[in-house]
Amino acid sequence: MAARKNAKIQVSKDGPYLVTGNIPLIREIEVRKPNSPPHEWKKVSDYPEKESYALCRCGLSKTMPYCDGSHVEAKFDGTETAVRRSHPEKPKLVKGPGVDLDPNAAPCARAQFCQRAGGIGHLVAESGEKEKRDLAIEVAGQCPTGRLVTYDKDTGEPIEPDLEKVISVTEDPERGISGPLWVKGGILIEGADGEPYPVCNRVGLCRCGRSKRMPLCDGSHVEAGFNHTYDLK
Ligand code: FES
Repeated sequence: MAARKNAKIQVSKDGPYLVTGNIPLIREIEVRKPNSPPHEWKKVSDYPEKESYALCRCGLSKTMPYCDGSHVEAKFDGTETAVRRSHPEKPKLVKGPGVDLDPNAAPCARAQFCQRAGGIGHLVAESGEKEKRDLAIEVAGQCPTGRLVTYDKDTGEPIEPDLEKVISVTEDPERGISGPLWVKGGILIEGADGEPYPVCNRVGLCRCGRSKRMPLCDGSHVEAGFNHTYDLK
């Protein structure tokens, strides 16, 4: 199933994400060794194909990742507080010999891929070596919110991974933590006020209900121990 051209995620007021346009929904896990940073994303399942569906945003549903109406009884406050921005025209770049890095393009989901191979800072600093440059680009591209963005030194353009339009329900079974909805491939997200967010290749949407930058994930699920990973063990 391919997402339709008019595929959209509508943030509803104090309620779920209303998804339309045949957007595929999958579940992915961070693969990591105990006490180590993750090194890859792995798809573990596809959810049934649907033209439209509602995804929980409050973190309370008993039918995750779908909304079951629990937000109503909980009087969930989903007020949107995120800054609506895409890649800035003049990002503050960390310069490397082979590639540059915007380390702050979006909120952090604390997925920890940036800690791979000595850390993204080290990889950028050593990016004069092709192997380190390639790894820096790969590591930045694994960041689900798009906080880390590498920039080509010749063109000055951001380097983005090639992603299909899909919504990924992310999990980290090793830490027992459920992560954000990873919205990939440039899907339109519209706020409850009808105003669109800038269309980005990578966006992390909060699904624990605790973000201070609603609807974007800001990593609050980690302190909260938000966990729907149990059936992956
Ligand atoms: S948003 Fe409806 S149950 Fe969470």
